[in-house]
Amino acid sequence: MFSELKQLPADPILGLSVKFKADTNPSKIDLGAGIYKDALGNTPVLACVKTAEQFRVDNETSKAYLGSAGSADFNDRITALILGDHKVIAEKRIKTVSTPGGTGALRIAGEFIKKCTPGATIWVSNPTWANHKGVFEAAGLIVKTYPYYDYENKCLDFDAMLDALKQVSKDDAVLLHACCHNPSGMDLNQEQWQQVAEVTKQVGFMPVVDMAYQGFGTDLDSDAYGLRLMADTVEQMIICSSCSKNFGLYRERIGACSIIGRSAIAADIISSVLLSVVRVAYSMPPAHGAAIVETILGSQELTTQWHGELAEMRNRINDMRQLLVDKIAENGVERDFSFITTQNGMFSFLGIDEAQVQRLQDEYSIYIVGSSRISLAGISADNVDYLAQSIAKVL
Ligand code: LMR
Repeated sequence: MFSELKQLPADPILGLSVKFKADTNPSKIDLGAGIYKDALGNTPVLACVKTAEQFRVDNETSKAYLGSAGSADFNDRITALILGDHKVIAEKRIKTVSTPGGTGALRIAGEFIKKCTPGATIWVSNPTWANHKGVFEAAGLIVKTYPYYDYENKCLDFDAMLDALKQVSKDDAVLLHACCHNPSGMDLNQEQWQQVAEVTKQVGFMPVVDMAYQGFGTDLDSDAYGLRLMADTVEQMIICSSCSKNFGLYRERIGACSIIGRSAIAADIISSVLLSVVRVAYSMPPAHGAAIVETILGSQELTTQWHGELAEMRNRINDMRQLLVDKIAENGVERDFSFITTQNGMFSFLGIDEAQVQRLQDEYSIYIVGSSRISLAGISADNVDYLAQSIAKVL
């Protein structure tokens, strides 16, 4: 059976981390995977997480099964984090399950859509996170793209996006990034969200909102603006969220899939299908990350500490955006890179070609995704000069 297998290329993002680890160049820089690094290049465990973990060690009384939805307390708290005090919560129209990371949420969403409409199409932005296509295809969906980023002008191709969404079938699903678009860093403004929400309502397709970076754009509530507006505007939607980045819980694999139905009765039916999808996929989610998040969100003191730590991560990344633009200019590059400071979250496209990306890797040990997506979180005051000089050289 195995003799039929063919060697596959490494994952375009995770494969870079493997190469980076093996590189012995002391000047190497990792701008590949979206993982926060501090000014020293470390990804420390947040202090609020450490406290919550200690609480868990001291107070956990059982490792018995939790059931396919995971912890009810986590599910309630994460739903409130995402939606605030939105009416869909009081109306009991939303059902949330904990999932193994944001990727688990997306896969469960894909499987759920397939249960509703076998052979359904999901539209994703061009470009989108490199794993979206694979996750949805693995769930049995057809994946198509709508225009999103204008590579030439380094901005949103909004008119083309809206025109494309108007042509989508009402039986299809459309994936939207809530904030900090991965990979472009280019987000919809409030007026654009209003237009997208109106088109979603008029056409009747199913919005699937992916929120993997809540808190990394402006703040927790502002980053959820589009998602909450969508929940105001349409009767049914799917939300996939992640605690990997904003709680720094990457390897703990904790996220959530939330589905809004037309009524409380519809939500109960949705829940039964959602639980059956989880049961055959992985039975139930891991508990540790959820326990940490629910402890933090259940404590005023830890929540305040978390807000501070999240702001520190966000502000450091924004500082690095400006620093990189300044340093590239200092190195005599005439091309304008100021667009980087107008974008949000961990990523931006440098806008260099694949050969230049490869040269950065081969000659300077600087690791960037082939599309020229950089994770700004990998930049520090210590490596930015070398980075800017190297970019200037390959240009
Ligand atoms: C990324 O886009 O780099 C992160 O979401 C990590 C991943 O799993 O790809």
